[in-house]
Amino acid sequence: MIDEFEFLEKIRKTTKVERKIESEVFEKNVLSILIHLIENKYISSINFPISKGKEAYVFRAEKGKRLLEKFSKKSGSKSKFAAIKIYMIETSRFKHMQNYIKGDPRFRKIPHTKKEIVYEWTKKEFRNLRLCHEAGISVPEPYYFKNNVLVMDFIGDDYGNPAPQLKKVGPPDPKKNFKQLIRDMKKMYGIGLVHGDLSEYNILVNGDSLVIIDVGQTVSKEHPMAEEFLERDVNNLIRYFSEFGIKANKEDIIKEIKSAKRR
Ligand SMILES: Nc1ncnc2c1ncn2[C@@H]1O[C@H](COP(=O)(O)OP(=O)(O)O)[C@@H](O)[C@H]1O
Ligand SMILES: [Mg+2]
Repeated sequence: MIDEFEFLEKIRKTTKVERKIESEVFEKNVLSILIHLIENKYISSINFPISKGKEAYVFRAEKGKRLLEKFSKKSGSKSKFAAIKIYMIETSRFKHMQNYIKGDPRFRKIPHTKKEIVYEWTKKEFRNLRLCHEAGISVPEPYYFKNNVLVMDFIGDDYGNPAPQLKKVGPPDPKKNFKQLIRDMKKMYGIGLVHGDLSEYNILVNGDSLVIIDVGQTVSKEHPMAEEFLERDVNNLIRYFSEFGIKANKEDIIKEIKSAKRR
């Protein structure tokens, strides 16, 4: 058993995290989950924060034996790294989260406390990732979740540099990339899901292809807002890709996505 204090000291030394992260992100519950992940060989170490959002931090970690053997072979992921997303309880927009959960027929029990809502949200993101990954949509493969901690495949190069957001670098092949995104949205619709927050911020550029992330708010297409979300997602993509010479008609794209056969 790793001593919690010793573990926190280790993190402090290796990642030089500030006090703020320590208290908000590495609270007791998260520490014990991270210890569990290390003891059960999901990960062997935590390297550095890739992203510090208002609601979640994302860290790069080194995969442990368990992830390297069990998951990587099956899924074909060659990455030595995993990404750990840790939702913060206090700063989460739990009212916003609750609305997304409320209308989703997949969630019969509606959580009420901040903590319950964030835990449910994390579970929802994990499930959405798993459904998408199984349907062959380009998303990070999810590996594990507990409470407000989610472990998934790391998207980045062989040296461990995280893949940049599309917003930062632009599409490497606009025509091909746009097509891939519409195909992925159609596949998502085919498994009954609408991303709900798709934009150049939630798409990573991995070599010459794109990876969709951040599927916490992804809703069932039965959700009362699903139609509106789908339209907004499509609008975002058309707007962004028009800067790179892609011309597309919103109605046609929506029709194309909706023509997906239910799987
Ligand atoms: N699996 C991943 N691999 C590499 N980087 C990631 C991964 N998931 C998230 N990131 C990085 O963390 C950032 C925030 O992640 P995201 O899921 O969009 O959370 P949020 O927007 O809620 O803070 C992303 O823009 C990306 O830079
Ligand atoms: Mg995001």
